[in-house]
Order: sequence, then C-alpha cells, then structure tokens
Amino acid sequence: MNIDELIILVVDDNPANLNILFDVFGDMQYDVLFASDGESCLEIVEHEKPDLILLDVMMPGIDGFETCRRLKSNQATQDIPVIFMTALADTVDKVRGFELGAVDYITKPIQPAEVLVRVKTHLTMRKMYTMLEDREKHLRHLVEEKTLTISNITLALVNVLENANKLNDTDTGNHIKRVGEYAAFIAEKYGCPHDFVKRIRLYAPLHDVGKVGLPDKILQKPGLYTSEEFDQMQQHVVFGASLLGIEGIDEMAHNIALYHHERWNATGYVRGLAGAEIPLEARIVAIADVYDALVSKRAYKDALPEAVADEKIREEAGKHFDPELVAVFLQNKKEIIAIKQLFS
Ligand SMILES: [Fe+2]
Repeated sequence: MNIDELIILVVDDNPANLNILFDVFGDMQYDVLFASDGESCLEIVEHEKPDLILLDVMMPGIDGFETCRRLKSNQATQDIPVIFMTALADTVDKVRGFELGAVDYITKPIQPAEVLVRVKTHLTMRKMYTMLEDREKHLRHLVEEKTLTISNITLALVNVLENANKLNDTDTGNHIKRVGEYAAFIAEKYGCPHDFVKRIRLYAPLHDVGKVGLPDKILQKPGLYTSEEFDQMQQHVVFGASLLGIEGIDEMAHNIALYHHERWNATGYVRGLAGAEIPLEARIVAIADVYDALVSKRAYKDALPEAVADEKIREEAGKHFDPELVAVFLQNKKEIIAIKQLFS
C-alpha cells in the first residue's frame, strides 16, 4: 500500500464540509472521492476500492448507519475502514456506529488537525492489516504446496516399492498396502484424529523401506537367521529411519520406520523402548505388520487361519503389543478381514 495511491471516499451532503476535507486531504496528496449521499457511496465502491471511508450520519435517502450496514454486509467492501462524521453527541449513536462496524467517529464541526490524525492512524492500521493478511496468504500457500509435494513424493515412493516387489515376485507389494490400510483403520477405531489417520495410511506402507539396504542373501533367506544375520536384518529399521529422517518429511514416517519392531515390554529392537515410549504410530503399525505376516502365505510358511492369528495376537497383549490396541484390533476383526480381502 503506497501512500501516493491511497484513496479516501468522503460521503457528506454538506458542500462546506466537503470543501474543508478536500483541502485537508489535497495537502496530503491522497486521492479523494466524494459522494453526497449513501446511494452514491454504494455505487462508487462497486467500481473503486477506497482505503478508508468518512461517512456522514444524517443524509437524504439512506442514512450513514444504513450505508455502513450495507458496506459491512458485502464481502467486497466489508474490510474498508469506516469513520463516522456526526454532529450527534449522543453516546447511543456513537455506540450504534461501532456496532455496525465503524472503526472511529469524528464529531462535527470538523477540526482538520483531528481528522488528519485519525485518518492517518486508521490508514496505518489498515496498511499493517493488509500486510499481515498478504503474509498469511503467502505462508498458507507455501504450506499447502509443501504438503502436496511431500504427499506426492510419498505416494510415488509407495508405488515404486510396490512395483519393485512385484518384479521380485513376492507378496510384499500388497503387504505394504494392507499394512497401511489396517493401520489407518486401527488408528481410526482407537479415536485418533482424522489427520493422524490420513498420515498413518500414507506412511505405514514405508515401514520396511530400509530393507533396500539389506543384501539379497538376508532378504531371500528362506530359513531361520543365524545370530549374525539377525543383527544385520535388524539394521533395516535404522536404514529406513535415515532414508525418511530428512528435513521436510513428516516425523511420523521416520518414527514408523525406526520403531515398528519395538515391543511393549521393551524386548524389541533397535532401541528397546517400552510402553508409551514407543510412538503410537509405531505401536499401531507393529500389530498391522505382524497380523498381515501371520495370515499371509510366504515362500517359507503357510498362512495361519484367522482364529490362530487372533490367539497369537491376544497372547502378545502387554508383551509385544500395546494391550489397548490389541483390544481395538480384536473388537473390529470383521472389518480387518474385509480390508484384507479387498487388498489381496
Ligand atoms: Fe520391519
């Protein structure tokens, strides 16, 4: 808002007042528009956007109060500051003006020095308000842009992983998608906010992204791991966390990758965290991941029946898993099975 471009609209039916104000604002190099009644004022603001309106109260036709009410009920003009000019010394009228959205009032007869000070103050406030509004708009736009970029990158990454796993001819592609869906469902039933549910659906499929750092002999080994191989395999959570721990990626993605093998009773890896020390998103993914592994057929094992899988998960409440999440999982088992069928 440049001071040379400021426009002030003066609305008054008294030519003497208009002349005084013309001189006052002319000296200040403001652009001044005049209207002699409320209707003309409303017509002018359809084409011009003044930075401030000085509005007389008693005018022929619609009075200043009604003019102000119409200005404030129109989205295009509601932000323009209005200062009432009134000979009415009655407090009731001043209060009415403020209630209608005016920012100030000037009592007639007009004192040029007072008008100038008040107008300058409100123009400065208006300028600051506009700057803050622009800044907020800009920041909101930046946040939206960043969020969209990160969501798109994550989705692309999930697709790459799914396709890579399909090339490997494993069921992992569908596995990671199902883990995302189970995790989102459990989070929702547990009462997590909508935004949490949305994010866990997006990031849970990346829980094992760190496996790209493991050698094939570990990844494709059909039997049990030796102790050395097990140590090596555990590193996938560290690899995953470093891949997803970069600035700009939601911390939830990092937490899921790093902590999804922690156990409620502190016997998990890689930090040995216990109970609520383990981030909720990782506790949820732990159940989703293990459940899907139990009921899925792999090269080295058959799929377990649902009832057997349920029993194993129930037994691990308070040991491997958060007992409250186990309860939510078992209570909603029908829907979990429906999700499994949908994504198999
Ligand atoms: Fe894992």
